[in-house]
Amino acid sequence: MPVDAGKLPDAQLLDGRSRDGGATAVAHPNIALVKYWGKRDERLVLPYTDSLSMTLDVFPTTTSVRLSPGATTDEVTLNGVLAEGEAGRRITAFLDLVRERAGRAERAVVCTSNTVPTGAGLASSASGFAALAVASAAAYGLRLDATGLSRLARRGSGSASRSIFGGFAVWRAGTDAGTDTDRDAETVMDLASHAEPVPVGDLAPALVIALLDTGPKAVSSREAMRRTVETSPLYRAWAASSRADLVEMREALRHGDLAAVGEVAERNALGMHATMLAARPAVRYLSPTSVTVLDTVLRLRRDGVPAYATIDAGPNVKVLCRSSDADQVSAAVRAAASCPVAVAHCGPGARLQTGDR
Ligand code: PMV
Repeated sequence: MPVDAGKLPDAQLLDGRSRDGGATAVAHPNIALVKYWGKRDERLVLPYTDSLSMTLDVFPTTTSVRLSPGATTDEVTLNGVLAEGEAGRRITAFLDLVRERAGRAERAVVCTSNTVPTGAGLASSASGFAALAVASAAAYGLRLDATGLSRLARRGSGSASRSIFGGFAVWRAGTDAGTDTDRDAETVMDLASHAEPVPVGDLAPALVIALLDTGPKAVSSREAMRRTVETSPLYRAWAASSRADLVEMREALRHGDLAAVGEVAERNALGMHATMLAARPAVRYLSPTSVTVLDTVLRLRRDGVPAYATIDAGPNVKVLCRSSDADQVSAAVRAAASCPVAVAHCGPGARLQTGDR
């Protein structure tokens, strides 16, 4: 039976360990309606702005972590294939952090399977690092509540901090250390940046996901963010407007106002892509078919269907609409772009699988 990490007292998180000392966790991707784009601290993964997302009920990642005493390296299998290169290095670096915090040295065997295409701007790193955070914390005996798990997941991939929670979540950028002299600056900054659930009024949203291209993106989000922050003359303006968007978004969610949620989400995402287009050299994730779907969304709105687009680091467009309109929106997107679509609703937070005990 899955157990929601967000609802557990600390001690129970340890109960996810199986008899061999391993643990398995499941997490779902999230799609930001107010985006995270740009780090003010790359190593600690601290963003410039707060971001807000919806966790999905489709495309889960399942990750198991088993300690391997005596081994000299971690063994990481990603979607059935031994992970080498950057993907393997990121997972080992994350486990090093967990080991350091747990005061343990054992290497681990990690098996992780995505049901969403990896690295295609479909939030596989969010579900991936949220599941890894929950499973590795349990396997290494780190006692963390949901806030602690969110901070930990953040270090793997910023957006993963939000997938610890179900429904809607806001990831706080946090503050810089200021004049706190009791604790070191790094600890103060780390503690302040995590996600938390967002109260939402009466809203029954769906996200229609147009699967336009599921291949890995040419430029990683890490590199694209860095280039945008360093070279785009539009970045500061977007960051300022994104802070205002967050205030409006929270208000719209609280009132269950889908049209206001959608309007803010669409302008925030298009603004983010504008900052990237102005980077030097430009980062362009949008394809001609992405623009076709944007046109379809406009046409739906003109026909009286509240539908709003958001796009991440890839060409795939996600269309926010009422659950009751999801079939009509899916049909319109499929017809315009000749692509498969997936329909998502609000999903659960990351959780341990306790069935394997
Ligand atoms: O967490 P990362 O490094 O995969 O970056 C995610 C960036 C966006 O998906 C484009 C926006 C977001 O807030 O999720």
